[in-house]
Amino acid sequence: MKTLWQNCHVASMAGGTYSIIEDAAILTHDGHIHWIGPRVDALVGEGVEFVDLNGAWVTPGLIDCHTHAVFGGNRSNEFEQRLQGVSYAEIAAAGGGIASTVRATRAASEEELLASARRRLVSLLRDGVTTVEIKSGYGLDLASERKLLSVIRRLGHELPVTVRATCLAAHALPPEYKDRADDYIAHICDEMLPALAAEGLVDAVDAFCEYLAFSPAQVERVFIKAHELGLPVKLHAEQLSSLAGSSLAARYQALSADHLEFMTEDDAIAMGQAGTVAVLLPGAYYFLRETQLPPMDALRKHGVAIALASDLNPGTSPALSVRLMLNMGCTLFRMTPEEALAGVTLNAAKALGMGATHGSLEVGKVADFIAWDIERPADLAYWLGGELNKRVVRHGAEVTI
Ligand code: NIG
Ligand code: FE
Repeated sequence: MKTLWQNCHVASMAGGTYSIIEDAAILTHDGHIHWIGPRVDALVGEGVEFVDLNGAWVTPGLIDCHTHAVFGGNRSNEFEQRLQGVSYAEIAAAGGGIASTVRATRAASEEELLASARRRLVSLLRDGVTTVEIKSGYGLDLASERKLLSVIRRLGHELPVTVRATCLAAHALPPEYKDRADDYIAHICDEMLPALAAEGLVDAVDAFCEYLAFSPAQVERVFIKAHELGLPVKLHAEQLSSLAGSSLAARYQALSADHLEFMTEDDAIAMGQAGTVAVLLPGAYYFLRETQLPPMDALRKHGVAIALASDLNPGTSPALSVRLMLNMGCTLFRMTPEEALAGVTLNAAKALGMGATHGSLEVGKVADFIAWDIERPADLAYWLGGELNKRVVRHGAEVTI
């Protein structure tokens, strides 16, 4: 079935910018974009269905390329503690932080985790997300990580969204490995990753490289195993301190290095050369009241593609809106609305290794797009949350959420 979506303007992101086409049309066929251009140039053959988009602005479906959307419990108690002046690192050292979510997640059934994550994902979907990456990392033993990754796969089957599953077993040290971080890394490499990969539950491997998590040497062992298993890597790097984790990620051709407030110019050079995407997470920056900004000028100067994501998680970024991240990327990180939109489309696709099929509206790519009832594309970065009127098209067909 061919469909001509018309009476719209398009910000296609082709070539890495808004790439505006006013009074545009998009011809979709078998879930893909068959043709896109000015409406007057559209060649319409037999049997084409017409859809009037009422003057909407069409963008690629939004891609949230970094979330931890599946977890048990929440940590609003820690939010209150931090408002009283206790730091994230102090809470973690006292047995809270990631460890407290691990306890709640291990105690939750697969069905409970599915139900709570579904509610959070629906918020993201109502905001225009058609592709989402979700990390494990709150299980930290084989059975619990398998439970999380199974929930992540099920979410992709049950909701109208494309889901990528990332194994983040190297997120924190589980209590049973207290003071034995190297042994836990060996367990990840020898048992967990091979088993989970063999079960088809893993699309990429991530780790948390930080003084309160894992060292670059430990992360490197995880990366070597991931590559042996044919899996791409990503890294939480330079969030709280500077350990050159992002340079390490670049050496392993990581799809992305994420957070990056404390990265150096040398890290940016390495990432630019490797084509590793910088995934910036303004929700975590804001929620932790961080003051160290990621080095935007160095990233731009060295040609590092910049993505934005929600980092949806219970500890540092309980963010349920990707458009809010666009606003924060602009107000906090001084990105332009154009850069911010590229950050949740084109560059977010690249950060998931999906650049060939997603992230822009070009012939041959998957027909995932949003027709927004807005005046200008910059409106997407302008409103602070709320729900915008829109029509969501996934694989060439309109979906309701
Ligand atoms: O991306 N940095 C590590 N991981 C998460 C936070 C996890 C948590 O506190 O639960 C993040 O910010
Ligand atoms: Fe994260």
